[in-house]
Amino acid sequence: MTADIIDGKAFAAGLRGMVAQQAAQIRERHGLVPGLTVVIVGDDPASQIYVRNKGKVAAEMGFLSDTIRLTEDTSQGQLLAVIERLNIDAAVHGILVQLPLPEQIDEGAVILAIDPNKDVDGLHPINAGRLSAGQNALVPCTPLGCSMLLADRFGPGGMAGKRAVMVGRSNLVGKPMAQLLLAEHCTVTIAHSRTQDLPALCAEGDILIAAIGRAEMLGGNCIKPGAVVIDVGMNRIDLEGGKTKLCGDVNFAQASEIAAAITPVPGGVGPMTIACLMVNTVTAACWARGIDAA
Ligand code: GUN
Repeated sequence: MTADIIDGKAFAAGLRGMVAQQAAQIRERHGLVPGLTVVIVGDDPASQIYVRNKGKVAAEMGFLSDTIRLTEDTSQGQLLAVIERLNIDAAVHGILVQLPLPEQIDEGAVILAIDPNKDVDGLHPINAGRLSAGQNALVPCTPLGCSMLLADRFGPGGMAGKRAVMVGRSNLVGKPMAQLLLAEHCTVTIAHSRTQDLPALCAEGDILIAAIGRAEMLGGNCIKPGAVVIDVGMNRIDLEGGKTKLCGDVNFAQASEIAAAITPVPGGVGPMTIACLMVNTVTAACWARGIDAA
């Protein structure tokens, strides 16, 4: 059997088109232009690329898009002052502070300082709490994107009763993803680096989501025949001749022989993350004005 490829790149392109249309509509009807400000501290090369892409896509959506670049030696107090200014700026609906931060800055304190209604990363404990309580929340972009791909695959109500195994327990992916799966009435297990007999547990999943950060760690023995596999991993591995290659947390060649459907890396979850950041920015802008998203 060869699995269907879940084309996140194409799905994300469609989603971006819908968001751009929504933005045009709320501008026309309400004179509202969604504003996204991304803050980056230091010059980590991967973060620089992510941030450039976020700003570029936000501008393509017709948003007011701004990027604030701070030097590596920025103090926590200086960063908190920037966030405070953005919190009270009515033209800014979404604030994203790119992670990781330099070591002199406490990530938790920074996340707590962001107005929860502008927290388009969905990382503030208020948003985590809203999500787990089943309330309207800004949901972290990567799990939001994964849940859209799954909803598209399974159709309305189609995930109910399925066994879902989430490998990874981060605040950014694993924990919110588990909540989204639970909201779809899946039976959810969260596995992590200390889980015993991880392959046997993974192989129970009708839905398997991998967010571990270790290249091709989950092999064919981790896949239930007919499972739907979502690979959140983005690992750069060295090849011969100084070249590198991007690969996921799942061994794609092995898994695609057993699963019913699988996301590729690249071209699966990755493009969904930025598209969902745009969705969250429109949501935050509509909340700020008390209007329904178009
Ligand atoms: N660094 C890697 N992924 C993310 C993300 O989704 N949000 C933020 N703020 N930083 C990141």
